Amino acid sequence: MTESIGILTAGGDSPGLNAALRAVGKAAIGTYGMNLIGFRDGFRGLMENRTVRLDSGQLSGILTIGGTILGTSRDKPTKMPVGGKTLDMTDLMVDNYHKHHLDVLVCLGGGGTARNAYSLMQKGINVITLPKTIDNDVVCTDVTFGFDTALTIATESIDRLHSTAHSHHRIIVVEIMGHNTGWLALGAGVSGGADVILIPEIPYDTDIVAEAILQRFRKGAGFSIVAVSEGAMSTELFQRLQSAQQKLAKAENKKERKKLNEEVAAIEAERLRSTPILTQELEKRTRLESRVTILGHVQRGGVPSPADRLLATRLGTACVDFIREGRFGIMVAARGDGVEAVPLENVIGSRKNIPPDHPWLKTARNLGICLGDK
Ligand code: F6P
Repeated sequence: MTESIGILTAGGDSPGLNAALRAVGKAAIGTYGMNLIGFRDGFRGLMENRTVRLDSGQLSGILTIGGTILGTSRDKPTKMPVGGKTLDMTDLMVDNYHKHHLDVLVCLGGGGTARNAYSLMQKGINVITLPKTIDNDVVCTDVTFGFDTALTIATESIDRLHSTAHSHHRIIVVEIMGHNTGWLALGAGVSGGADVILIPEIPYDTDIVAEAILQRFRKGAGFSIVAVSEGAMSTELFQRLQSAQQKLAKAENKKERKKLNEEVAAIEAERLRSTPILTQELEKRTRLESRVTILGHVQRGGVPSPADRLLATRLGTACVDFIREGRFGIMVAARGDGVEAVPLENVIGSRKNIPPDHPWLKTARNLGICLGDK
């Protein structure tokens, strides 16, 4: 019988994390009389043995609070910055797990967290993960918690940008988070009525985007909203990146690999600066006044939506059921109205991109939204 659960939140924070912590705690402590120990600031707190004893008092009143009461970090067990060096600290983390006589470590995070939890599992400890991220890019789950809240924030932002774009007869380019996937930009773009949606899965041709805006202009629409994912890139940048990555994969020696790694990093940095450049290019090509809005971390903040609270709570309580059944080395995935235990091996190393035949893309095309391709 499992008695003690360790829990941590890792990676970028996400609305619904506290709802999930509360759900695990309520079921584990309240219903089954187990112990729950929180580690602060993700895997770093596990390494440094910085803990918070989570009891019902601590977990009360956190359902609606954004962020994570435990704190988080992007530190990885196998590549931990320690004293100016990057070290593999998994053994120390495993020691701390045993020091607290834990039966399982629950890790709340995205794809990276699943990979990190897996590296600890390979050292012999029991782990379970819950899929959270505003990006919705975790494989083997219908959705991740945090996504719905961020989608709502991004959609509301597009709504607000409409009135100012309309009043000033401008192009407004709005950059939406999502890392290397376009779920947030596509979802918010369609639900917010954007005229152009650019996502990483479909490299864009700036001329095609400019022409779509000019066509709207000719038809009398004096403004346009362009929803662009932070990871989107032009076909030109995409080709350069692909060619550098292909060369890197074939590189034969250390010197060549170093040079190509630098080249890839420089292209990736250029990609992150794409949105203001795109805005300038659109202004130049259309001669329409253009502005850029980068939503940034505002999309990760604040109160989780009801859908995210419900999802995080469902996954959190189901996690305790799996613990009681002794099912470890899994991610608790959302599947329809239910949940599913997915082996971590199936989750790690993959990213959920938007497939070309996804219904949201079809919907966007049917609406006449420009996706930057032919
Ligand atoms: O993974 C969530 C996310 O918000 C991404 O959309 C974004 O690319 C990244 O985190 C930003 O990370 P940070 O908070 O470390 O700047």
